[in-house]
Amino acid sequence: MAVAEVVFRKLDELTDDEVYAAYAPPEPDWLRVNFVASADGAATLEGLSGPLSGAEDKRVFKVLRARCDVLLAGSGTVRAEGYGPLVLSAERMAWRRSQGLPEVPVMAIATRTASLDPASGIFTEAPRRPILICPADLPDSRVEPFREVADVVAVGTGAVDYAAAVAALRERGLRQILCEGGPHVFGDLIAAGLADELDVTISPKLVGAGPMRIAEGAPAEEATPLRLRHVLEAGGNLILRYVRGSSDE
Ligand SMILES: NC(=O)c1ccc[n+]([C@@H]2O[C@H](COP(=O)([O-])OP(=O)(O)OC[C@H]3O[C@@H](n4cnc5c(N)ncnc54)[C@H](OP(=O)(O)O)[C@@H]3O)[C@@H](O)[C@H]2O)c1
Repeated sequence: MAVAEVVFRKLDELTDDEVYAAYAPPEPDWLRVNFVASADGAATLEGLSGPLSGAEDKRVFKVLRARCDVLLAGSGTVRAEGYGPLVLSAERMAWRRSQGLPEVPVMAIATRTASLDPASGIFTEAPRRPILICPADLPDSRVEPFREVADVVAVGTGAVDYAAAVAALRERGLRQILCEGGPHVFGDLIAAGLADELDVTISPKLVGAGPMRIAEGAPAEEATPLRLRHVLEAGGNLILRYVRGSSDE
């Protein structure tokens, strides 16, 4: 079998169209995960991803957002990173229109306990009605306050059943799923064998011990082989695109 070609490029030599093309999804149903990590494997610096990140990987981050039907994030990330309503720049919305997509993706928030504020902007100012993903056995008193501001996908017992959640998103026509973490959601997606792609930026920093890795929580029973599709370099960052599959496919 031929070894698939890996592309190595400097990000700032690529046009926006080339960056969009570099992240074309291989299949109509696709779940990609995007993270930034330090060179020594930390998912956070001072409790946030922001200090690991910069304009370079943000360019890719925005293209990935523009390409998805639904942006999935865990409540830990929504709270820590202070996620507001999902909005895109005029250029990104224009690109989506040119592709026949609605101007903005839907926001989906996964939570075990619904420990979020239904009055926060992520719900009340959302251009498209968000989706709250939670376990089916969560007491209705916890879920009820969200029904006015979000659709509720209640799947799993004691924890979100991510396979069922992904199926529910696809049933709504939300087939291109971008997950921005956090580490516990990613750990669950890996354990459930649901991650088709990992886009990870290796940031040129040593953070040291302490912070989480990009995947946490329940261990996976087996490793998922990945195939490297490209390496983009920008400002000492390595912006890597891995897709599910072995390197000799
Ligand atoms: N480096 C990066 O690119 C990056 C990306 C994203 C986040 N982060 C960082 O990661 C940190 C947050 O990490 P995290 O792992 O706590 O965030 P997370 O994965 O977004 O969310 C964890 C939350 O998800 C819920 N959860 C966890 N496991 C669950 C399960 N099995 N079923 C249902 N819900 C479940 C819980 O929600 P409830 O509390 O609502 O019960 C938990 O608090 C922040 O410091 C953030 O800055 C870094």
